[in-house]
Amino acid sequence: MQALQTILEKLEGVQDLHALEEVRLLVLGKKGLLTQEFAALKHLEGQAKAQKAQDLNNFKEKFSTLHAQKKQTLQALKLQERLQSEKLDMSLANTHFSGSLGHPLNYTKERIIAHFTQRGFKLHLGALVEDDFHNFSALNIPPHHPARAMQDTFYFKDHKLLRTHTSPTQIHAMQEQKPPIKMIAVGHTFRRDHDTTHTPMFSQVEGLVVDQSVHFGHLKQVLEEFLHAFFGSVKVRWRSSFFPFTEPSAEVDISCAFCDQKGCKVCKNTGWLEVLGSGLVHPAVFKNVGLEGVQGYAFGMGIERLAMLSCEINDLRSFFETDLRMLEAF
Ligand code: PHE
Repeated sequence: MQALQTILEKLEGVQDLHALEEVRLLVLGKKGLLTQEFAALKHLEGQAKAQKAQDLNNFKEKFSTLHAQKKQTLQALKLQERLQSEKLDMSLANTHFSGSLGHPLNYTKERIIAHFTQRGFKLHLGALVEDDFHNFSALNIPPHHPARAMQDTFYFKDHKLLRTHTSPTQIHAMQEQKPPIKMIAVGHTFRRDHDTTHTPMFSQVEGLVVDQSVHFGHLKQVLEEFLHAFFGSVKVRWRSSFFPFTEPSAEVDISCAFCDQKGCKVCKNTGWLEVLGSGLVHPAVFKNVGLEGVQGYAFGMGIERLAMLSCEINDLRSFFETDLRMLEAF
């Protein structure tokens, strides 16, 4: 019984719920002091047994009441602590986040899509995993063609790969639809490139128009209209270029708005910014998809590049970092 008395003092001094449970087990657990005392009753008899049983029951009641009180106090204390540490002040005024147009890449993508779909271009998304035929061979880029080296590719088994440009959607469209075709394809593209101006994943917009008589004048008109709608009053310069799947091919530059063509870091002191590639669909491409007697033009541009130029962002990597300040700037 002496041991049981010190237990009550111990219970009084307990500071947390864990220690409280330890004391409870010490008394009422399977091998607890009280449990043992009750078991030992069988060695007693008569009046002595009745008296001892009475004492033990009294103690049990006292202990249980004290234990319950202590538990309540400690639980209330714990809740108090939690409320303190997890405090959320819902009345705080929102003075910080000003709202934005969304991520500049999505914003740019939506602007481009809206421009072309309003002019009758049908939106295609295409697949991210393509085969060698659609991504290269059908686009007049046979095996060992040097253009493949410029598009360092992520390969899977069985000639499957992550598309290195959106141009394979041209091939799918021409295989699946009868001309006239007027489409844009928008989405992610992948190349094994990673430095300050390249990321392994980027996005492109592709355009394709196929009909009975399509010429370079159509291409010029469509792209110049787009560039003025997108960038405002910039100058547009056409430069002869090369792509295996277009002939003739041209790249298009706009005048550098960062320096008013005086020369700066962004335009590398040239006064011009390259924004897209384009050309008339190469006859070999038509042959590869089994089309005859048609003409077409195609163009492609990088969404990151257009977003950087129109939103005045100078680090490509900032598109892919999850920094809210980036969104707040728009
Ligand atoms: N696919 C080309 C690239 O990724 C861009 C392009 C598309 C050029 C269509 C001409 C016509 O660089």
